[in-house]
Amino acid sequence: MDKLVVKGGARLTGRVQISGSKNSALPILAATLLTPETCVIRNVPDLSDIRFMIEIMQRLGAKVTFENGVVTTSAEKIISEVPYDLVRKMRASICFLGPIIARCGQATFSEPGGCSIGDRPIDLHLKGLAELGAPSHNEGGNIYIPKANLVGKEIFLGGKSGSTVLGTDNIMMAATRAKGLTIIESAACEPEVRDLADFLNKMGAKIVGHGTRRLEIEGVDALHGVEHTVIPDRIEAGTFMVSALITQGDVFLAGAEANHLVNVIDRMKSCGAQITSDAKGIQVSAPRKLSSIDLVTETYPGFPTDMQAQLCALMTVTPGISAITEKIYPSRFMHLSELRRMGARVELEGATAILHGVEYLSGAPVMASDLRASAALVLAGLVARGTTEVNRVYHIDRGYEHIDQKLRALGADIERVR
Ligand code: EPZ
Repeated sequence: MDKLVVKGGARLTGRVQISGSKNSALPILAATLLTPETCVIRNVPDLSDIRFMIEIMQRLGAKVTFENGVVTTSAEKIISEVPYDLVRKMRASICFLGPIIARCGQATFSEPGGCSIGDRPIDLHLKGLAELGAPSHNEGGNIYIPKANLVGKEIFLGGKSGSTVLGTDNIMMAATRAKGLTIIESAACEPEVRDLADFLNKMGAKIVGHGTRRLEIEGVDALHGVEHTVIPDRIEAGTFMVSALITQGDVFLAGAEANHLVNVIDRMKSCGAQITSDAKGIQVSAPRKLSSIDLVTETYPGFPTDMQAQLCALMTVTPGISAITEKIYPSRFMHLSELRRMGARVELEGATAILHGVEYLSGAPVMASDLRASAALVLAGLVARGTTEVNRVYHIDRGYEHIDQKLRALGADIERVR
């Protein structure tokens, strides 16, 4: 298994190109199954999650190629069964459910397992699909939707933590082929959901309200093949913003979209960062002394849960006391025990991490547990005294394209060791 070896101390400066958004590309790839015609998707990041999504599409019967960031796919005929060995490895495969039901009128889908960031139920997905006319039952770990007759309906999709991103995606995709009007109340309004709606509208769907909590989808008889360019990855951009702040650096995030990061930029400015942006990207300059902050993760436009671990890393070396509360995945704190191994002073009170800034962290061998936790450990390694080895780096390769090369180009001392 690969590991990343980071020698702390370098100040990061220069320009980094932000890749296409993983969390936009994944549901858009699933949406291409809604048409037998050819689709061309550009600015797709080369990540293991993307390659795995493509493998599932091929197993379902689609012809897919992926080179130089461009995916070309045509799903003339697809099967409607997604087996356990595919679903268990990547929870995001759940976003095949809506397109398969809309295309095949039925689906057999293995129930996705849990993952290290916490419980990830799909009750809202199944509730929304049932209300649209695709009732399901669970047997032996499989979800069976034997017969779907999709008819538009008003559906409330709010859950205990507010809206659901992939749940909104699934219901929206199925509703494009339902008879009549579907209204989704308490819809997710993340930029990635908006990007999917834009893609579906290009295919001939009739969706309005994307980017708000209320979506209206008028069903259509067929969707056609299109070309589309995926939006930039706001979480990768946010992660590199932290890499500039934690190393007292000054970094330009080329291609980053500031409008997708309003809350993150606000919190970073509260830390003392100087941040400017234009159509080309975002400039982040660190203050001489960072200020501690409190934050709570929420659904968009709140502070994203996918940036929580990265902010914990930053606050371990920020003078003062910070409180970071996780309201989306209350147990998404696997990174704290690894940060403690590096000398961080942090305690967990329920779903709130209380971080006491220390003068320095010490490099150590640490274990990645999930995609964003591994990014947090690399960020901590950039500023720690000595060497940090981040093991199980396959986690980070799921969501960050060439992160070691990009950090090295900014001046970091980081190597990937087989
Ligand atoms: C998406 O996952 C992202 N993944 C996650 O990013 C992200 O952390 C998450 O949204 C929240 O922003 C992709 O887009 C591929 P949710 P998703 O349904 O859609 C509860 C990363 O690091 N819920 O919005 O699966 C759930 O328990 C990944 O890139 C239900 O209760 O998340 C959670 O508390 C990790 N019932 C909250 O909603 C349901 O049926 C938000 O989950 C569905 C969700």
